[in-house]
Amino acid sequence: MLRQTVYKINNKEISVAVGSNLANLLTDFLSKKRHGKLFLLSNETVFPLWGNKIYKVLKDKFGVVGKIIVADGEQYKNFEIIESILKQLILEGADRTSILITIGGGVITDIGGFAASIFLRGIPVIHYPTTLLAQVDAAIGGKTGVDFYGFKNMVGSFYQPDAIFCDTETLSTLAAGQMSNGMAEIIKYALIGNEEIYKILKNNNSDSIAKASIIEDLIWKSMDTKFNIVAADEKESGKRILLNFGHTFGHAVESASRFSLLHGQAIAIGMAFAYFYSEMRGYATKIRFEQVNRLIGRYGLKTTVPHSIKINDIFTFMAKDKKRSHGNLRFIFAKNMGVAVEKAYDVKDAIDKFMDMG
Ligand SMILES: NC(=O)c1ccc[n+]([C@@H]2O[C@H](COP(=O)([O-])OP(=O)(O)OC[C@H]3O[C@@H](n4cnc5c(N)ncnc54)[C@H](O)[C@@H]3O)[C@@H](O)[C@H]2O)c1
Repeated sequence: MLRQTVYKINNKEISVAVGSNLANLLTDFLSKKRHGKLFLLSNETVFPLWGNKIYKVLKDKFGVVGKIIVADGEQYKNFEIIESILKQLILEGADRTSILITIGGGVITDIGGFAASIFLRGIPVIHYPTTLLAQVDAAIGGKTGVDFYGFKNMVGSFYQPDAIFCDTETLSTLAAGQMSNGMAEIIKYALIGNEEIYKILKNNNSDSIAKASIIEDLIWKSMDTKFNIVAADEKESGKRILLNFGHTFGHAVESASRFSLLHGQAIAIGMAFAYFYSEMRGYATKIRFEQVNRLIGRYGLKTTVPHSIKINDIFTFMAKDKKRSHGNLRFIFAKNMGVAVEKAYDVKDAIDKFMDMG
């Protein structure tokens, strides 16, 4: 079932749609807008699977459409790619009236959003995210950017798209593990307070959510949760920090695994740790910690740190994070429902004990 709405972030209207097979809807949206040449940005994996189909629909309707296909992988989320995108836009005659349409996972929406935000000081961008993670997280909220100097997402901008089209059909070709990767962020929305999502997750598992009506509902509700938080705090000076739930420890585990764990797999462990640490500090009960562990496990995600990961590496990466936040590591504690943001105490002790559970 197609669902559509318009969100507003600091007076910028963002049209969103969730449903299946949305190429024609994208065409209708573009038909109602005045625009010059359209450009598609995708990668070598996604373009043949989904981009080409959309390219043909747009070409039939609007004539010439630019096509920018980049290499696939986080290692290409860098300045060189941005430069090559900007060069191609110039060579193919893009101007202020052009629109860039990104088709891909979070890497593509991040680099496409960033390139669009700086080309001619900003041309419109539309996201057509094709991973679950990008549909429920990366494409929403306007954070764009690239990795730089060994740091993830070190350089970028806040830049809201004109529209986001979440086509659930594209999820059918995702590689193993990529659905769980996105599910971790959906679980996060439940745990930071969306009770409706929590209920759906409790009543389903990784097989049953594959049903179109359920996954569409989860994407729709997740989008709504993130949009509402971002609308209240676009630049992360307050409430938006809640979206980092499970990420302090999760990021450190992800880095310490040398990225052999997918982001969502690491965040799942980060959320389990948040409950463990919260129980130690009296915010959440042991029963709740166990309930949440079971919930995470239902979606193909682990809740303990793999033995191959060294505790000292985790400490090193957490210390880096702390340095980036000027020594004020605020931790998002889990309560039985919802969260509380407080300064972290005895976190090393909590990590020690948590690692013993693996
Ligand atoms: N801007 C934000 O707010 C935000 C939030 C979360 C994550 N991110 C960023 O998003 C990135 C991770 O995104 P991701 O998990 O989507 O990874 P990704 O973009 O690397 O996609 C994962 C893999 O799936 C492939 N793929 C994409 N769609 C496919 C499809 N429909 N069928 C088959 N294969 C497909 C991709 O080519 C890639 O190989 C990271 O760079 C992260 O920093 C940004």
